[in-house]
This record gives sequence, structure tokens and C-alpha cells, in this order.
Amino acid sequence: MVPERKVLVLYGSETGTAQDVAERINREAKCHHFTSRVMALNDYPMSSLISEPTVVFVVSTTGQGDPPENMKVFWRFIMRRNLPTSSLTNMKFAVLGLGDSSYQKYNFIGKKLHKRLMQLGGTQLQPVGLADDQHDLGPDAVIDPWLKTLWQKLLAMYPLPDGVEILNSDLLPPSKYKVEFLSSQTENLQPKLPEPSENSPPSANCPFGARLLSNERVTSSSHWQDVRYLKLDISESGMSYSPGDVLMIQPHNMPDTVDEFMDLLHLTPNAQFTLQQNDPDTPLPATLPLPCTCRYLVENYLDIYSIPRRYFWQLLGYFTDDDREREKLREFITPAGQEELYNYCNRPRRKIVEILVDFPHATANIPFEYLFDLIPPMQPRAMSIASSNLAHPTEVHILMAVVDYKTKLLKRRRGVCSTWLSKLDLEKGPVHVPVWMKKGTLSFPKSPDTPVIMVGPGTGVAAFRGYIEERAHIGAGDNVLFFGCRGEKSDFFCADLWRELAQRQMVKLFTAFSRDQDRKVYVQHRIAEQSQLIWDLLNNRKACIYVSGNSKNMPEAVRDAFRSVIIKEANCKFDEAENYLKEMDRTLRYQTETWS
Ligand code: 2AM
Repeated sequence: MVPERKVLVLYGSETGTAQDVAERINREAKCHHFTSRVMALNDYPMSSLISEPTVVFVVSTTGQGDPPENMKVFWRFIMRRNLPTSSLTNMKFAVLGLGDSSYQKYNFIGKKLHKRLMQLGGTQLQPVGLADDQHDLGPDAVIDPWLKTLWQKLLAMYPLPDGVEILNSDLLPPSKYKVEFLSSQTENLQPKLPEPSENSPPSANCPFGARLLSNERVTSSSHWQDVRYLKLDISESGMSYSPGDVLMIQPHNMPDTVDEFMDLLHLTPNAQFTLQQNDPDTPLPATLPLPCTCRYLVENYLDIYSIPRRYFWQLLGYFTDDDREREKLREFITPAGQEELYNYCNRPRRKIVEILVDFPHATANIPFEYLFDLIPPMQPRAMSIASSNLAHPTEVHILMAVVDYKTKLLKRRRGVCSTWLSKLDLEKGPVHVPVWMKKGTLSFPKSPDTPVIMVGPGTGVAAFRGYIEERAHIGAGDNVLFFGCRGEKSDFFCADLWRELAQRQMVKLFTAFSRDQDRKVYVQHRIAEQSQLIWDLLNNRKACIYVSGNSKNMPEAVRDAFRSVIIKEANCKFDEAENYLKEMDRTLRYQTETWS
């Protein structure tokens, strides 16, 4: 019997990099004449895994050695202890892990998945690939040779049919989808995703349009950072939330970026098109309503203000009719060109819309249907919920910093979602924000009797605001909050709520205004000052500790401060205090959430 030339590529991707690599492997599989499919691990029906002959897994590691969101369901399944060890004896597999060696649990998920698949009886095609973001030449330094060996092995096992040759990768691969522009157009077509219903609650494919109720700047107008407190109406959405949950928001691109992109590509805003599959294994995107207009596509779907991925350069290289551009674009995808690419693109965080300006010949020749291959879909953003659902049954609130900074080399950089949200103006009429809910990473104690110590400088306090409001609502008062900001007058947001709750004895607040005096005062200094109170809550009341914020050094410094508190108050050695904290980690009594 001729063995089935079939490859399945499954990915777990948080920011889209692993997805990008998985899609590349899928394209290469097709060049090698394999029947192939690519999908997120959570989208794959797991019970079918036993009958897959060849599977390539591309998985990244996030946070503190965690799997990405779109493989969490799979992860729980594959790690189940009761799976028989011979479950996957028919499967040959290869695992490519993407990670960052500056983190402690480097490539943890890739390594663990590889081990687990072996345990379950799978046969490895080759050792696990460990791509490192920290590598001077980027993750491709590992991915390229790893893939080369993979194809050699697969071709040895599944030779090409007679008379068939590997497709030349110099040829332009087919586009993901076929596009048909509609000649008879619906007047004023307003593309819209399906509305949530009883059977399909709000999700990425049918978000709920939450009406904006208020959009207030909560830092002083002279403060360097614009922080917003937004209230959204979720009545009639069927959604509810618990402390620690996050609000998922599907942003729009910023209007000026949209206009610039439309001009560059000479797109007609109201032109209407629909998509068709170009490959039976690549389904149409679920988050794009069809038929659609060019304006909607650019405003809502294409991530034109993102940093491009490798395939972008390869495709532009096909489209340009200018030799110098072609040479540069080709160089960018070779190992030798990685440093130059990094200096041109990743370091100054150059965005797709800016790069297209720099490569006018390629840009002028981009076929419309390839926009879906060139530019990834815009990812939803997760924002900590800052309100209590018990206190506000029909509302959800978020506290967010508007991302706006300058890189050394280039112009202003803005965060797409926060900038878009901050500019939503109620004066101009009703505004709706596409949202749905998701479980967050912090899990708070259910018992109102467990005291909680929270450390949240800056917008790190968002989730704590929601939790404390909820506890206050049910009369649970053992809440200790360490809050830090630059100044009492400049960025002490939520101050009114804290004062009111403090008066009702619902919160003990300790503030660290870092710049209101000559020397810096941070939350960790306040923790040191409160050692007796903290030790009493930890030792006698089994309190939980939560740390959240976006500073790189803060979580470490705060942990040091808590360790010192234990050493001092329990009169113990460093190692004993460290073990105490480790035990708290293990029992989820010490949880940290950070971002950069
Ligand atoms: P700074 O900007 O004055 O240094 C919220 O961003 C607050 O966190 C600010 O007051 C900021 O102070 C403070 N912060 C900065 N680095 C920190 C660190 N390593 N530990 C604790 N707080 C820090």
C-alpha cells in the first residue's frame, strides 16, 4: 500500500509568530506535494489525533512557562494522566518550540509536549527544535535548518510520486483565498459579524457591541501618560464576569492609518468583494463578514499597524518589479540578512503601513487577494476588568494606559487598541465597542474570610479595583492594597473610591508616590514598613498575595520585600522564607501578573 502523503500542522500561538511558522510549514508541505492542513490546536478535534500519520506541532511558551491561549484546551487534554500510553502509536511527529531564553522556563511547552507525545507512543521524526527569540539572527536561525532536515526525513519516508518534482519556492505560491469583486453592489453595504444570541454567546466570531457610557482621562492633563477609565454597557448581552476575568476587545485601526493605507494601495472604500476558498483545507476567515467593503477590511480586519512577519518580505519580493527592491527583500529572508532586517524593521518597530511606503514598486503591484497573505488579521486585546459585576450588573469598566511612545530612531509609535479607544467620542453620537469575556490568569479566593494583600502600581491596579469593589459589595473587608504612582496630584487614579472604601473600613490603602519627594518611594518600601500587619495576615489568617504591574523589576523587588518581611517577623533564615514563598506559589496564594 502506498503510504498516505499527509501532513497536519498544529500550532499554539499567543502573538501569531507560531501561527506564522506553522503556515509556512503548511506552504512548504504543499510545495513537497503533501496533502496538508494547518490549524490552532484548540480547533482540532482531538479524538482524531490517533489516526493522523504525520503531525508537526509548532508551539510557543508564554508567561511563566504557560501554553498559549489557543492550545490550552488541547494542553489539558494531552496532559491528562489517564490517557493510555499507547494512544499515539500510529503517529509520527515533530515538535518545534518557540521561546525566549531570557525567561526561566525557556521553551518549556515545546520540550514538555515532545516528551509527552513520546510517552503516549508517538514516534519522533527528529529531536525537538528550540527556536530562541534571543538568538542574534532571530528564531529562524534554528527554524530554517530544522525544517530542512524535516523535509529530508519526510521525503525519505514518503518519496515524491513518479514524475513529480518539488515546487520551486521561487515561484509565487497561490493566495490563501480567491477574491471576487461584486459588480452589482448592495447600496450602502454595512458589513457586520453575526450578533450574539442565546445559542452563540459573545465571542471572537460574534462580539457584542457594547455601548460606550464614558471615556474619562484619570491622569492630570499635564501628566506624561494618558490613562483612561472607560465604562461600557453590557445589558442584554447575556454576559457576566467574575473578579480576575478579562474583557476581550476587537479594536479598529486608527483612522489616519486606515486612510494612509487605502491611499497607498489605491483602494476604493466602498468597493464590495467576497472571498472564496482557494484550498479546501483553508477555511474562510470567521471574523470577516462577507460580502465586505474595502473600508471595513482595512479598518477592522487587516493588522496594517503591525510589524511584519517573514512571509511578508518573501511575498513583497515576488511583487516588486524593481531590481534594487527585489535584492533587498530577498536579502531580508536569508540568514545573512537578519541583522539588517532587525535594524530596519524590528528594532525601530517599523509597521507594515510604513514599510509599504519604503517599497513603492512592490506596493504598486500587490494583487488585492494577496493582502490576506501579506497582512495578518488584527488580534483582539485582553484588558483587565476594573469593575465588579455585582456592583454594576449592566456595566463593565476598564482602566488602561494609552500606549504612545517614541523609538530612538523613528517617529511616534501608538498602541492601536488603546489609541482607538481613547479617541472614541460620545459627543459624536452612540459608539459601540466589539467585546466578549474571557477568564483571566489571576484567580482570587472565593471565601470572603480570606484576607487579600494586593500590590498594583500604575494600571496594574485595574483587576484589584474590580475585586475590592466586589468584596466591599458583599461586606468582605480584609483587603490590603499597595498602590504606587508618580504623584498624588498627577496619576493617583481611583483615589475617590479608595477614600470612600477606606472610610467604610473595606480597604487598607498604602500609597507610594514615587516622585513626590527627593528620594524614590516604591510599593516595596511600603511593604517593608507594614511587616507586622503583613505577617499577621499571612501567618494567622492565611492571606493571599497578588502582584500586578508592567514594570520589569517591580515583581522581583516586591517578592524580595515580602521575603524580608518573613525573615524579620518569623525570625527565620533566607532559605526558609524563600521556601515559605514557594509554598505560597504552589498553593496559588502568591500570584503575579506582569506585562511589558
Ligand atoms: P517611577 O516612574 O518614579 O520610577 C507606576 O508606574 C509606579 O511604579 C511609578 O511610581 C513608578 O515610579 C513605579 N516604579 C518604577 N519602577 C519600579 C520598581 N522597580 N519597583 C516598584 N515600583 C516601580
